[in-house]
Amino acid sequence: MKFSKRAQAIKASLTLAITSKAKKLKASGENVINFAAGEPYLDTPEHIKEAAIEAIRQGFTKYTPAAGAPFLKKAIIEKFKKDNNLEYNNSQIVVSCGAKHSLFNVMEVLCDEGDEVIIPAPYWVSYPEMVRFAGGQPVIIKTLEKNKFKFTTDTLEKYITAKTKILILNSPSNPAGTVYTKDELRKIAKVAVEHNIYVISDEIYEKIIYDNNRHASIASFDKDIYKLTVTINGVSKAYSMTGWRIGYLGASEEVAAKVNNLQSHSTSNPSSISQKAAWAALTSDERFVREMVREFDIRRKKMVSGLNRINGFSCDMPQGSFYCFCNTKETRLNSMDIANKLLDELKIAVIPGIAFGQENYIRVSYSCGYEEIDEGLRRLKELFG
Ligand SMILES: Cc1ncc(COP(=O)(O)O)c(C=O)c1O
Repeated sequence: MKFSKRAQAIKASLTLAITSKAKKLKASGENVINFAAGEPYLDTPEHIKEAAIEAIRQGFTKYTPAAGAPFLKKAIIEKFKKDNNLEYNNSQIVVSCGAKHSLFNVMEVLCDEGDEVIIPAPYWVSYPEMVRFAGGQPVIIKTLEKNKFKFTTDTLEKYITAKTKILILNSPSNPAGTVYTKDELRKIAKVAVEHNIYVISDEIYEKIIYDNNRHASIASFDKDIYKLTVTINGVSKAYSMTGWRIGYLGASEEVAAKVNNLQSHSTSNPSSISQKAAWAALTSDERFVREMVREFDIRRKKMVSGLNRINGFSCDMPQGSFYCFCNTKETRLNSMDIANKLLDELKIAVIPGIAFGQENYIRVSYSCGYEEIDEGLRRLKELFG
C-alpha cells in the first residue's frame, strides 16, 4: 500500500501505546491505577445534559451553519469578552468538533510546505504531528524545570528564522501545568509582532488554574497581536465535556473564513445537540468549574507531596491543568522504560515524558479519586522506597 506523504509523516501516538496496554490489563481484571487520564474525572453536569436532551426532544437535530449555530457563537463572543477581554464578531468565530479539531483546521489553513512552527517543549503530543501533516517543520524549544518549563523571549529570538510562520502557546499547559504571566506574554507578543509571526494560543485549560496565578489571553494586549493571534478554547476540560466534541476559535475574519471553508468541506458543523449542551455550559453560572478546581487543587497537593516522598522522583507544584510533570532522572530509567515498568510491575498507568518531547519525566494525572491517588503512591513507595 502506498500512503500519502502526509500520512507517512504522522507518528503513532506514544500515549496510545501505554493507555491501550493499561486498558487491556484492566479488562483482564487487574486493579490498574489510572494516572494517565487526560480528562476530568467528573461526569458532565446535569443541566448541560438536560440541554442536550431538550435539543433532541425539540428536533434540534439537523445541520447548523458549518461554523456553528448563531446562539452558540453569541455565547462564545460574550465569553471571550467577559473572561478574556477580547472583542470578536460573529464572522471571527468558528465552532469545531473539539479544540483539537480547531487546532488542526488552523494549522491546515496557515501552515504551508516548509514553514517553520515554533513549539515549546514539553508540548501537547498533537502539535508537532499537526504541523507535519500540514507539511510544516516543527521547531522545538526545550524548556527547563528550573525555569518552570518556560522559554524567554531571548531564546525565542534565537529560534526565529525567515521561515518561521507560527508560534504555538499553551498556557496553562499540558503536561507541565505551566502558566505564563501577563508580563511574560506581553514580551512574547512584542517579538511575534516584530517578526510578523502568527500565534496559536491554546487556552483550553484556562479555568483550571491554582493559587494566585491568573490566566491572560495574549490577543487582548493590543491590535497588532490581536490580528496575528488565533485564540483556541473549548468546553472539554472546564465543563467535563470531552466526549461532546465542542471546541472553538476566535481569529481575524480572514483566518476564520478560511477555517470555515475547510470545515464546510470536511466535517460541516459540529453536532447540533452538543452545540446546545455547550451553550448551556457557557451561559450558566460557574459553580461547577469552581468546585471542580477546588477538588483538583486538593488532589494536586496530595499527588505532589506524595511523589516528592518517592525515591528518585521529584516534582514542582504545577500552576494549572490537572497533571504533574514529574522528574524521574534519578531512577536512571528513560521515560518509556519507567512508564512500562510502572504498568508491568505496579499496574500504574502514566505517560512517558518523551511523548511530550522531554526525556527524564513522566506525566502523572491527578484527575482521579483520592483512594486511587493514595493507592498509587503506596505502590510507588513500595517499589522505589
Ligand atoms: C493542550 C490541549 N489542547 C487541546 C486539547 C483538545 O481538547 P478537545 O477535547 O477540546 O479536542 C487537549 C486535550 O487533551 C489538550 O490537552
